[in-house]
Amino acid sequence: MSRVPPPHVPLCYQRRKKVIEKLKDWALLVGAQPESIRNGSVYHPYRPDSNLFYLTGFTEANTVLVINPLLEKPVTLFVQPKDLEKEIWDGFRFGPEKTKELFLIDQVYTIDELPTKLPDLLSNVSGVYHRFRKDPKLDQIFLDTLDKIRLKKGRTGLGYLPIKDANQFLGEFRVIKSQEEIEIQRQACNISAEAHLAVMRYVKPGMNEREIHGYFIYQLLKLGASREGYGTIVAGGANACTLHYVFNDQNLIDGQLLLLDGGGEYFLQTADITRTYPINGRWSYEQSQVYQGVLKIQKKLIDMVKPGVTWKELQDQAVTWLCELILDLGLLPGRVEDMISSGSYRKYYPHGVGHFLGLDVHDSGLYIDPITNQSRSLEPGMILTIEPGLYVPAHDESPFRGIGVRIEDDVLVTQAGHEVLTKLCPKDPDELSQIIGH
Ligand code: GLY
Ligand code: MN
Ligand code: MN
Repeated sequence: MSRVPPPHVPLCYQRRKKVIEKLKDWALLVGAQPESIRNGSVYHPYRPDSNLFYLTGFTEANTVLVINPLLEKPVTLFVQPKDLEKEIWDGFRFGPEKTKELFLIDQVYTIDELPTKLPDLLSNVSGVYHRFRKDPKLDQIFLDTLDKIRLKKGRTGLGYLPIKDANQFLGEFRVIKSQEEIEIQRQACNISAEAHLAVMRYVKPGMNEREIHGYFIYQLLKLGASREGYGTIVAGGANACTLHYVFNDQNLIDGQLLLLDGGGEYFLQTADITRTYPINGRWSYEQSQVYQGVLKIQKKLIDMVKPGVTWKELQDQAVTWLCELILDLGLLPGRVEDMISSGSYRKYYPHGVGHFLGLDVHDSGLYIDPITNQSRSLEPGMILTIEPGLYVPAHDESPFRGIGVRIEDDVLVTQAGHEVLTKLCPKDPDELSQIIGH
């Protein structure tokens, strides 16, 4: 059965116009993320490439986009050919003609034509933006092309075309979200908040982490997400202290906490929400102390989010407040200043305060000014996570051992300050107690 392009193809057209303006006399090369083998002849489910999707709305693998602003037809896409035989096995392909028409592309060729066409497409530019090591096959074709272009210059002494990183270049377009992107992000956040809420109602002691994982994905998909935006973390008890816990296969024990870090994708933009709560709905004294401490810090950090505040200010403040909490809980002795200068707090808080969010969970965009090396200020239209946490390893001496808490929300920077896009996801401890298991 044939498929239709996503509704924001015209938006992609506008994005390309802006990119073309900024490129001036440079070209841009964007290849699709290659498919990856899972085992034997089976592939991992294909997740379309974020940059390619951003600029075209096109989601097939084996695709390469070339933009050369100096050409009369600046935008060229290389795609898989129509092949009804192959499509019986692997599904629908648009093919060159339909892609040109439906995705508003200037010219479309089949992917096997790339090596012969690329030298002409890049021959008159001053440089090329490309991200190496994403697709080794494309790297090889690109390097061969650079050789051909250099050799064509004859005995001029001119070397290879200069190359800059395409991801950094495109990151600066993606980091400020348009109204349309904000609306898509809102959907991703609403779906994900609702899926978290459904898990809170469902969870019971004795269930396995994998059952919760499956139930969370079921809720995301039922609500309209296309997939998880990243590997969901379902961590019972001390598993929460493994920051990127991947196993999701242990039984949930009565009296312990559950940390669920998960978000769904909507038109490839993902939410990123973490909630932590008691599996049986009742907070122990120690759990409540840690949770209330982290929650207070998380709310204060969210309150800081507004245009002009820098990532460093947010990070430094998170560290200071978490050090104070570490002292209050008696996890470490001494003074906050010493904990910061020695870095001893990292035993309990080893990660960053948050990150940009969008088509990638750790979205593109610079965190520093590349010239001054200074931390970047937030601007309206940016979307970021705020996710402080405290993790007391199971082997710790303190009565808080085995408790890991992270609370993570997605925040849009607005002219006036901010809007929490994940506010539908409960985090008040009493409210959580009311919801869990009911
Ligand atoms: N879920 C990945 C992160 O929070 O950064
Ligand atoms: Mn995150
Ligand atoms: Mn997360």
